[in-house]
Amino acid sequence: MRVSVIGCGYLGAVHAAAMADLGHEVIAVDVDAEKVAALSAGNPPFFEPGLPEILTSSLASGRLRFTTDISEVAGSELHFIAVGTPQSDDSGAADIRFVDAAIDALLPNLGPTDVVVGKSTVPVGTAQRLAERLLSAGSSATLAWNPEFLREGFAVKDTLSPDRLVFGVAEGAGHQHALAALREVYATAISAGTPVVETDLATAELVKTAANAFLATKISFINAMSEIAEATGANVTELADAIGYDTRIGRRFLNAGVGFGGGCLPKDIRAFSARAEELGLGSSVAFLGEVDAINLRQRERVIARVIADAGGDAVDLKVAVLGLAFKPQSDDVRDSPALDVARGLAVAGAQVTAYDPQAMGPAQRRFPDLNVAENVQQALLDADIAVLVTEWPEFVQLDPRNVGDLMAHKRIVDARNVLDPAQWRAAGFHYSSLGRP
Ligand code: UDX
Repeated sequence: MRVSVIGCGYLGAVHAAAMADLGHEVIAVDVDAEKVAALSAGNPPFFEPGLPEILTSSLASGRLRFTTDISEVAGSELHFIAVGTPQSDDSGAADIRFVDAAIDALLPNLGPTDVVVGKSTVPVGTAQRLAERLLSAGSSATLAWNPEFLREGFAVKDTLSPDRLVFGVAEGAGHQHALAALREVYATAISAGTPVVETDLATAELVKTAANAFLATKISFINAMSEIAEATGANVTELADAIGYDTRIGRRFLNAGVGFGGGCLPKDIRAFSARAEELGLGSSVAFLGEVDAINLRQRERVIARVIADAGGDAVDLKVAVLGLAFKPQSDDVRDSPALDVARGLAVAGAQVTAYDPQAMGPAQRRFPDLNVAENVQQALLDADIAVLVTEWPEFVQLDPRNVGDLMAHKRIVDARNVLDPAQWRAAGFHYSSLGRP
């Protein structure tokens, strides 16, 4: 099929390359000329495993092109909207002006039977408003909503073989045509058995919001349990294992630690709360305020623990911060707990040296005073204490004996509960984690 993708960030760039990889002819548009040039040369402006490979092969096949010229989308049958919906500067609400701008830019280039497919995460009600906008502008193109559930670090896999596909289309003239077009563009995944949920626009928007709210709640639930476990001498990891064997609960997303971050979960729960308030239903999702508060409290807990474990005085304390990305296999530092811990310790007066295998450039752009090391050994050298905040395999596999030889004092805070306490203690370390004795 001939498809266009509007917006070439994490979502759009991966979606465009994946669609071309599946055999479609793709034109991908972004307003940022630098980003378009980098992607056209096969260089993604962010770290995402597997993306350079499908980008290069799709560009070479001639099926994928990047442009800043929106008029080149004319002739595509499907137009995917994949622009960002960041948190507003002055509230928790989502800023959807890039979605509106994408629709405005598309309008003059739409054919009568085209299908506009929203993938961005938007407040419920947005799609209906956009459908009305198309109509009032005289376009007979159909609007569909097809939310994206990709995880950074697994974005290519999640796009090519998703857990499920959600197709939201309003009843009306273009309904059957839009569903058929969506089924065709995703034919490979559907024939491999991917379940499809066909629904209305509002449900499709809400599925995404609800999924992220549920995942965030699961993480904050276990982090709340870790606070209780810590005060009572219980072990939160064993607790998670034990409740996780109940298939109704499940073990995934029950890892206690410094909490969730990134470009989605934090902003999506805030946007959901803001939208519910607008609908007069703030109390229905008031618990999400608590989910956010528990999550942010984890960062403070880790900062306080590092200072306490090192004797109680942060001033001139040499701290090695292991990790800056919000999770491993990513260079994303948006709302990163790791970066907040590094910053919080520095603000408290500590001499912080941080290292991350991928996220040092992005971290320094957000926090220019951040002191970074060239490798993990350099970060650890002469440190009074180390704190593991992003569970990169390179950190999880560290040998405590080698680490101990580098540091001034053998102290480590494991803020992701991923190290073996017995092994670190046997090497002479003062080891502590969150919610484990
Ligand atoms: C998330 C959703 O998973 C994805 O479906 C959606 O499309 C976008 O948002 P992503 O932001 O890439 O994806 O990260 P994810 O893997 O979900 O992790 C989110 C955060 O939760 C990370 O900071 C991670 O460290 C943290 N986390 C995850 C925990 O603290 N504990 C866990 O058990 C799991």
